[in-house]
Amino acid sequence: MIHLKIGKMKLDGNLVLAPMSDVTNLPFRLLCKKYGASLVYSEMVCSGGIVRRNAESMGRCLTSEDERPFGIQLLGSDAADLVNSAQILQERYNPDLFDINLGCPAQSVIKNGFGSALLKNPAMIGEIIEQLSSALDIPLTAKIRIMNSFDETLKIARIIEKSGAAAITVHGRTQKQGYSGKSSLEFIKGIKKELSIPVIANGDIYDEKTALEALEYTQCDGLMIGRAAIGNPYIFRRLSHYLSTGELLPPQAMDERLRDFYEYTALCRKYDMLGLNDLKLNAQYFTKGMDNIKSVRIEINKANDIDSVMGIIGGLE
Ligand SMILES: Cc1cc2nc3c(=O)[nH]c(=O)nc-3n(C[C@H](O)[C@H](O)[C@H](O)COP(=O)(O)O)c2cc1C
Repeated sequence: MIHLKIGKMKLDGNLVLAPMSDVTNLPFRLLCKKYGASLVYSEMVCSGGIVRRNAESMGRCLTSEDERPFGIQLLGSDAADLVNSAQILQERYNPDLFDINLGCPAQSVIKNGFGSALLKNPAMIGEIIEQLSSALDIPLTAKIRIMNSFDETLKIARIIEKSGAAAITVHGRTQKQGYSGKSSLEFIKGIKKELSIPVIANGDIYDEKTALEALEYTQCDGLMIGRAAIGNPYIFRRLSHYLSTGELLPPQAMDERLRDFYEYTALCRKYDMLGLNDLKLNAQYFTKGMDNIKSVRIEINKANDIDSVMGIIGGLE
């Protein structure tokens, strides 16, 4: 097992949960942590919302001691706002690190010049990282997508390193690719070779084989898992078991998957986060791939209240 080190922080492994909007809330992160994620990130939060103390934005950063180490991912392009928001969040939630989002390809994000739009302005990236890392006494990481050319990607990665980031995550897709096509391990490997800060590989890691291949091929310090963890936090146990022993675990039993779903809902209740839409989505995610699930999925879709969703899932036991 490789221990990822970010700044002075030594993690207990090297598997990281990706920040995912509307997915990686506190209850979900706690499940990933339970199964062996060594570092978890909040979904992206817009610095403008934090500076205005918007309740919804602040709520996305809710954390608990049980999930540490915990990182908050910031989204924005104004260095002063970003610093200000990080300080507000540090005072309220005391995270172990911050990440800056330089990869989101959503139209609503890039039209404001945030996320992957910043990749077109390396000087601004340098400015943001320099100001954030010198204002903070905890590590700052950055998450990028690749550019069309390797040299352009490397130039940005070098600026990120030089400006004070403690680690970088590289998703091997371009902004234009969105989530389609293949994530390039080749670009990630090239960046790892040239940088001295830890590099975390991201994109299309969804099972033991893809995890091992990404680690061996890129020689990266860590792996970040996104979509494969949705409704499947158990993936962290599978991957960490395989990477440390070479053994494949059997598929997670259906009753255990349902138990995870109940644990998720119990945590949502505990933290006052239980909402119908999120519950319906997670009921779908946690039952994905189960036998004869199609009619159940249709029922979940039609459900109008929380009790109905819980009743439908209860019927599967
Ligand atoms: C639903 C969803 C929401 C996402 N939200 C964010 C986000 O808030 N911040 C971010 O940096 N990336 C976000 N991403 C991108 C993931 O962090 C990750 O880079 C991408 O999904 C590739 O990794 P994967 O192949 O393991 O899913 C999101 C992806 C998905 C599918």
